Amino acid sequence: MNPNTKGIPSTLPKGAPPVRHYLQFADFSTEEYGYLLERTAFIKAKFKRFERHQSLVDRTLAMIFEKASTRTRVSFEAGMYQLGGSVVHLTTGDSQLGRSEPIEDSARVISRMTDIVMIRTYEQTKIERFAAHSRVPVINGLTNEFHPCQILADIFTYIEHRGPIAGKTVAWVGDGNNMANTWLQAAAMLGFHLRVSTPSGYELNEKVAVTPHGMGTGSYKTYSNPMDACKGADLVTTDVWTSMGYEAENEARRKAFAAWCVNREMMAAAAPDALFMHCLPAHRGEEVEAEVIDGPQSVVWDEAENRMHVQKALMEYLLLGRLA
Ligand code: CP
Ligand code: NVA
Repeated sequence: MNPNTKGIPSTLPKGAPPVRHYLQFADFSTEEYGYLLERTAFIKAKFKRFERHQSLVDRTLAMIFEKASTRTRVSFEAGMYQLGGSVVHLTTGDSQLGRSEPIEDSARVISRMTDIVMIRTYEQTKIERFAAHSRVPVINGLTNEFHPCQILADIFTYIEHRGPIAGKTVAWVGDGNNMANTWLQAAAMLGFHLRVSTPSGYELNEKVAVTPHGMGTGSYKTYSNPMDACKGADLVTTDVWTSMGYEAENEARRKAFAAWCVNREMMAAAAPDALFMHCLPAHRGEEVEAEVIDGPQSVVWDEAENRMHVQKALMEYLLLGRLA
């Protein structure tokens, strides 16, 4: 560099569009979901035809994992390479994040070198603090409170199999956890009916899941008996009894959740064409019987695959906006 140069500007170019983040399901409008779901179908169809779809050439995704993952890592990493970009993978243990570098400083640095960031961490406040100091879009890859990419994939999967989800009934059986909170936001945004049955003491925290528009055309109801929640439902879904970060409660939870196992009787009480979903990893014989998750109503493998397709559409949208 010429030693007399005034230097390289350290701010973003003037006129750059405002950075959007995807930290919870309520961050996008109903209308934006319409676009994203259609774009996902387009991108998935091209993938199935072995047609190249490289809209993010030379873009870099940083993935930060503070908790374990199989699906989230593979789907984001494979998806970004398919889009023509590349990926940097960080964990707490092999980065300065594990040695108490402030999250704000990490955000400032990582977002100067990469174009988009995915984070899997503990408290939602942590990802919010990162986003507040990031120059580039930040995606929630799971927090204690929310798992929006998973619910986006689940909704895409439902629509693929059964058509529009608006007006349908989804039964959540199990823990009032990050998945349940996100289902509640999705019901409000997309106008379906959510029934939630949790053991006492493990209820969904409505204050966490609150959306800016209330329940919209959707609805939310709680049930003490999981069988009642499943009656006539179009989709029955569950998740692990103990989420990552809550392992110390494992024994207490095993006792409390014993009756919250999705079994053949619950599926029989649901609508005749009801689907079964589970975000995985699953524990057969705990939250779901093997005959349900491995049975004909289960779409869990489509759900897992669709993580990749919806996230490709999501990254493209956050970086390039609408393309069609
Ligand atoms: N469903 C899901 O997020 O899976 P992983 O924990 O394997 O990423
Ligand atoms: N609720 C689970 C989802 C895992 C994908 C957890 O947070 O561990």
